[in-house]
Amino acid sequence: MARLVMVSNRVIDFNVAQQAGGVTVAIYNTLAQQNGFWFGWDGQIDNSDSPELKVARVDGHTTVTEPLTTDDYNEYYLGYSNSVLWPVFHNRLDLAQFEAGYYSRYVAVNERFARHLAPLIEPDDVIWVHDYHLLPMALELRKLGIENPIGYFLHIPVGPAQALLAIPEYKEIAKALSAYDLIGLQTQSDVRNLIDFFQQSVFGRLLPSGRIRVLEAELDIGCFPVGIDPADFAFGPDEAEELRAAETSEINRIIGIDRLDYTKGLPQKFKSYGRFLEEYPEYRRRIVLSQFAPPTRESVEAYADIKAELESLAGSINGRFGELDWVPINYIHRTIPRAELRDVYRSSRIGWVTPLMDGMNLVAKEYIACQDPADPGVLILSKFAGAAEQLAAAVLVNPYDLNDLVHGLRIALEMPLEERSARHAQLLDIVRKSDSNAWSRSYFSALMKAGQRRLARAPKSSSEMGKALERLQSTAKKNNPPSRFAANVVT
Ligand code: G6P
Repeated sequence: MARLVMVSNRVIDFNVAQQAGGVTVAIYNTLAQQNGFWFGWDGQIDNSDSPELKVARVDGHTTVTEPLTTDDYNEYYLGYSNSVLWPVFHNRLDLAQFEAGYYSRYVAVNERFARHLAPLIEPDDVIWVHDYHLLPMALELRKLGIENPIGYFLHIPVGPAQALLAIPEYKEIAKALSAYDLIGLQTQSDVRNLIDFFQQSVFGRLLPSGRIRVLEAELDIGCFPVGIDPADFAFGPDEAEELRAAETSEINRIIGIDRLDYTKGLPQKFKSYGRFLEEYPEYRRRIVLSQFAPPTRESVEAYADIKAELESLAGSINGRFGELDWVPINYIHRTIPRAELRDVYRSSRIGWVTPLMDGMNLVAKEYIACQDPADPGVLILSKFAGAAEQLAAAVLVNPYDLNDLVHGLRIALEMPLEERSARHAQLLDIVRKSDSNAWSRSYFSALMKAGQRRLARAPKSSSEMGKALERLQSTAKKNNPPSRFAANVVT
């Protein structure tokens, strides 16, 4: 088996399992199926001259990590990654901060990570880089002579080309992306936007083969919607019974779990909840909104602003409608431990997921996986979450339109059992078929093919390339996954 080398900025800390977000869980699940290791930032700051790489082996996974310096943290992580790329890719140009120095530090950290990773790469390895922090990773690895297949998966959405063109370094970004063999995205709409960006930024050209020529390179772009491992959320028959017996409350819980991020549409959600209680007083005392919103990237100004706004909204709605024995919004500013997630989803009548824009949103899929098929809750989902392309049987809403949010909540609360069950069955089927295993298998096999195509195009005179191609062809044969899932993924 070829080793799979996963590279991402955030590497799961096995000792703090509750910090796990969608990206880390997806990588974790993939590495549980395949031999390899995980390279990235250890989450620490260290300003010493040459800190060592840390190798850890926990729970069958090997991680190789290194710290960032204070300047790296400020300019690479908070700066270029989270104050330029994050807002721009989410189409929030108004929040982007194009500061001098961010980009050069961003490239320098990528270059250093590549320099430390390259000596660990073996000839048969397949390298899979994740997310916007590490866009230039393939280019830096190629400069060091790495010819292995290198794939990229962007977990966040791709905003319209017009937004991406506002990045001062947009041509460098296009060039960096062209160094990958395969770019994987969450939705068809992301694929269209990225192709549009390549066409407008560097005269990218779609080829009859379906690949795209970008500068000197030809690469594949595909849609691979990330999934969950439904087994993580399965209930044994007795467990589910116990939970139902414990549910004596007359109050229906509406659950929201989102990082406290301006892309998640939380102010709109709170405002519409207030409006709902105003318009439908008969629901007062009968529902409660439990919103978990763990803090994130707090030193970035836009994140501090949203925190203050939400606290004030929750306070005013609770002050206005609350009673001695009923608090309408249960606003919890921290992470919910993963071990408790399953029961909380199961016992919530509604999963309320209304981001303004989101790569996929795995909370939506987790909520579905946890419902009791005999009496399922209802998923309300923003039509601007990547998950909406697959989960069309949810109650789809426009998070910018408060009236639509109010209407969606009413429909979900009043939905008869028959309709809830029919919608849930459709959604569960999709969540199961496009699980994390299907995602990684289909991406991996597409990456192997894309790597072979690049090597086959290389000048015949290059014997190194020839050897690399032979190796890859034989590894591809050995790894050829008889994927029963691949057919469910639109590429
Ligand atoms: C999003 C990104 C991930 C990131 C996560 C948590 O899901 O796509 O790459 O790791 O947010 O954000 P953080 O800044 O804490 O890593």
